[in-house]
Amino acid sequence: MKLFIDDADIEAIKRLIDLYPIDGVTTNPTILARTGKEPKEVLSEIRTIIGEERTLFVQAVPLDAEGIIEDARKIVAYFGKNTIVKIPSIPEGFKAIRELKIEGIHTCGTIVYTPLQGYLAAKAGADYVAPYVNRIDNMGYDGITVTKKMQDIMENHGYDCTVLAASFRNSNQVLELCEYGVGAVTCATDVIDNFVKNVAIDKVVDDFVKDFEKLTGKHSMKDVL
Ligand code: E4P
Repeated sequence: MKLFIDDADIEAIKRLIDLYPIDGVTTNPTILARTGKEPKEVLSEIRTIIGEERTLFVQAVPLDAEGIIEDARKIVAYFGKNTIVKIPSIPEGFKAIRELKIEGIHTCGTIVYTPLQGYLAAKAGADYVAPYVNRIDNMGYDGITVTKKMQDIMENHGYDCTVLAASFRNSNQVLELCEYGVGAVTCATDVIDNFVKNVAIDKVVDDFVKDFEKLTGKHSMKDVL
């Protein structure tokens, strides 16, 4: 399962890229707005931190196909080949995805709330579809079930489209989809940290170090070998 950071906080991205096996960064206009910086500036910084080998997701802003296509061409020209253009999964968006597929520009159908919306984005040629797990939950539906249905559709019909589950509030939501086999998740930094944040783990980690120090008076194997 690919793991992306759903954030534009530069310091947080630097820390997580350094520590975890991260495949890239996803953004949207709201995430960019949180930084208070110019989109060009913050996205360029993110590209520099993650390098060319990791994937950057940037959202097209217009809501008409022509405007989306123009945004997409410019986004990829500016941020490089390993950039995926997020496109709202609305009728004009599907039209844009089809055209961009022909041009060889990679896309992600975003703002996906129903399995059939995901199906349309995949059939139009999107490389990814992004169901919003927690936001679906907040509407009184089950975001995990919706995402699993989407995964089944991709597999049963052989669409070359990865389900990129998004909008998580906790690591258990991620776990359930990881077990199910979804291809990718994108998470806020605190959700990723919570994969390993556990007092029981911390205690054992501390105990091992203390026991070694008690035994040898040293802090590492290299000091006793
Ligand atoms: C992903 O494509 C979305 O931009 C994002 O995950 C939405 O998450 P939120 O519900 O935490 O804002």
